Amino acid sequence: MPNVGKSQSTADRRQHFVELAQGIFPSEHITVEHDELRVLGTDWTRNFEVSPLAAVFPTSIDQVAELVQMANVHHFPLVPSGGRTGLSGGCVATSDEIVVSFDRMNRILHFDPVDRLVHCQAGVVTAQLQQFAAEHGLTYPVDFSSSGSSQIGGNIATNAGGIRVIRHGMTRDWVAGMKVVTGKGDVLEFNRGLVKNATGYDLRHLFIGSEGTLGFIVEAEMQLGTAPSPQRVMVLGVGKLADLLSILQRFKQTVNLSAFEFFSDLAMSKVLQHSTLRRPLRETTEYYALIEYDEDQSELATQAFSDCLDQGWVVDGVLSQSNSQTDDLWRLRDGITESIAGYVPYKNDVSVRISQVPEFLDDIDGLVKEHYPDLEVCWFGHIGDGNLHLNILKPPELDINEFQERCRAINPLLFKQIQRRGGSISAEHGVGLLKRDYLEFSRETSEIDAMREIKHVFDPNGIMNPGKLLLPQ
Ligand code: MLT
Ligand code: ZN
Repeated sequence: MPNVGKSQSTADRRQHFVELAQGIFPSEHITVEHDELRVLGTDWTRNFEVSPLAAVFPTSIDQVAELVQMANVHHFPLVPSGGRTGLSGGCVATSDEIVVSFDRMNRILHFDPVDRLVHCQAGVVTAQLQQFAAEHGLTYPVDFSSSGSSQIGGNIATNAGGIRVIRHGMTRDWVAGMKVVTGKGDVLEFNRGLVKNATGYDLRHLFIGSEGTLGFIVEAEMQLGTAPSPQRVMVLGVGKLADLLSILQRFKQTVNLSAFEFFSDLAMSKVLQHSTLRRPLRETTEYYALIEYDEDQSELATQAFSDCLDQGWVVDGVLSQSNSQTDDLWRLRDGITESIAGYVPYKNDVSVRISQVPEFLDDIDGLVKEHYPDLEVCWFGHIGDGNLHLNILKPPELDINEFQERCRAINPLLFKQIQRRGGSISAEHGVGLLKRDYLEFSRETSEIDAMREIKHVFDPNGIMNPGKLLLPQ
């Protein structure tokens, strides 16, 4: 009865951890409760079996540092957990790890209006920071459909992007300083909000996108920007994928774009089935572009739209006339992830340079039609950044393992197309567990070796999010 032995030792280990953790945390900030652990140990991928040993809820940097020191001595692997909205399995706990939740480190600590810097704890929710910025007449413009749950620490750990990268960049561009607890238990502070700081390696940028493999991000100095001018949104019906790029070029030459998103008719149909929204256009087309720009450029935008119509790139279009119409048009795009979640989609989040998008799209479209003629394939994404989301939907009758096996089978073909063009196998979702085995399609072996060595410097005992990003050796 081998399982009995294993579960006995897991129970012992759990007991041992709880006894040690009680020296650091009040009992109510430690949990071993099964249902709670299932939630805390997973993310939005929802396709990994999770089995955390326990979870803790630190309220201070000292507690995080003490926990890391204890985990090093007693070999407890640690998994950072923010809003758990990740899509690559970056914070799932699959093998008896300790989940470290930042839900209780969720305060904005200080605001400096001259520097426009917000000093916040890692568990501050994105929407909370956006709201805070708006209350001070400013903006935190990095935005995604998960802004209501995702946390700043997790956003930094994955260098989250989202829907307005074309104008405002990624999370990396808004981190002016950071405090971390490394995998050794050292507390380090990087950059301290400086604009200029030419004093050697900027370790802040190593931790951004490190997916919890080097240490915990515990506090950050986030930069705020000038409040945005009013925006307008257009949704255009487009027949051919390649024409989307011509439309992008035309609009880029004419207006200040805040977003240039696209989605397929299938993606929109799923949102419509899942909501009370109505089709925005009379004509049904295979693809749609959602374009956001400064309202005071509406005339120029209308001119660009007419030019696209004349060229035959656009079949139909609608322009928002009010804030509520703007919101509804955005919901057609923002609602996709949620509306297809029930299909347990196999997600691909890839990017190439914008100039290579048309040819890349053609090749991938061919691959998809050849290999998935019987499956629903949902296209959407941030085409203005060269970032495409390709979601393969599981038919209800197909076994989940069989489905994933089929999807994985074409990964090497898809990723070879990306490698050939110097693109990325994960544009914004991170590598986590889902893309870990394919990292070599985007990074040279020598670069991966250097990443391992860097990890060893900050996490010599390998307790930080083991198995994520880099294959265990
Ligand atoms: C999005 O663009 O909506 C997000 O990256 C989420 C997703 O890909 O499902
Ligand atoms: Zn996205």
